[in-house]
Amino acid sequence: MNDITILAVETSCDETAVSIVRNGRDVLSNSVNSQIESHQRFGGVVPEVASRHHVENITMVIEDALKEAQLTMEEIDAVAVTEGPGLIGALLVGINAAKALAISHNKPLIPVHHIAGHIYANHIVAPLKFPLLALIVSGGHTELVVMRDHLNFEVIGETRDDAVGEAYDKVARTIDLPYPGGPLVDRLAAEGKDTLNFPRPVLEGYDFSFSGLKSAVINTLHNKKQKGETVKPEDVAASFQASVVDVLSKKTFEALEAYDIKELIVCGGVAANSGLRKRLTAEAAAHHVELHIPPLNLCTDNAAMIGAAAYFLYRQQHFADYSLNGRSSLDL
Ligand code: KG4
Ligand code: ZN
Repeated sequence: MNDITILAVETSCDETAVSIVRNGRDVLSNSVNSQIESHQRFGGVVPEVASRHHVENITMVIEDALKEAQLTMEEIDAVAVTEGPGLIGALLVGINAAKALAISHNKPLIPVHHIAGHIYANHIVAPLKFPLLALIVSGGHTELVVMRDHLNFEVIGETRDDAVGEAYDKVARTIDLPYPGGPLVDRLAAEGKDTLNFPRPVLEGYDFSFSGLKSAVINTLHNKKQKGETVKPEDVAASFQASVVDVLSKKTFEALEAYDIKELIVCGGVAANSGLRKRLTAEAAAHHVELHIPPLNLCTDNAAMIGAAAYFLYRQQHFADYSLNGRSSLDL
């Protein structure tokens, strides 16, 4: 089969990202323009600010990606773009840029689900092997997905309230850490102890719930303050992280056993978490499960993952027409 080279665009949240990926695995360029600093002073992503930044940056990031790959649009076979889920204004900037490229250069347009992208980030590192279980842990998602073949997704569990990254960011705020707090809580947790005995919220089946845990953290801090007791932020971070890691790991390994699956992939921004990586690595060894976690730059939002998923959609001729719209919520 001929080489397939895809230019992929991802603007679902606060990264303006464009990547060129050949045959779903070979990343020729991966340009990411992060807006984190602009959102930091608001303590979270402000949708309108995100959209405006995407508008300012998208053309430049596309040019950078082509330049880095030393390619022209004539050498690109298709343009892929995140269709959803995500912030609608942010998605629309990427979608319109992708459409403009596709129309002006007469290329097919491939709509990609953001979570499919996170899963396919792993394919860049090592080809996906089926059946597999994917644990998706990000700022917007916490899901367990069984895959028996390419693009075949069965969501077996998801969060009923907050996503795990969202809970990290909220807990970070309660101990006065800036946005995005996940990596900072992770670092702090390494210096503290699990002394606060936060609940391990476990729902039936494979669903998750993190809002109760977040409230437990806030209430504990409030009660201690009222009693004039001090709590070390390191211990808050360590206790919170211990609960999250326990719950994620327990559900994941229960699902692996129930579905008789030996391949586990972990993706999304929280896959960068050192406590989670350590626990999953130990459990995987004990259960003879093969664990794959992509490197940090492929864990957080990027367009290479969209280009990887798009390759399989291309092979199925799964193309959108030029009326493609963004979708803030979209089933996998
Ligand atoms: O996948 P991602 O870049 O964006 C979404 O699609 O949501 O994930 C971002 C999330 C943020 O909530 C951030 O705080 C969290 O991932 N995160 C972490 C770590 N690194 C990033 N959470 C815990 N520990 C980390 N090391
Ligand atoms: Zn994401």
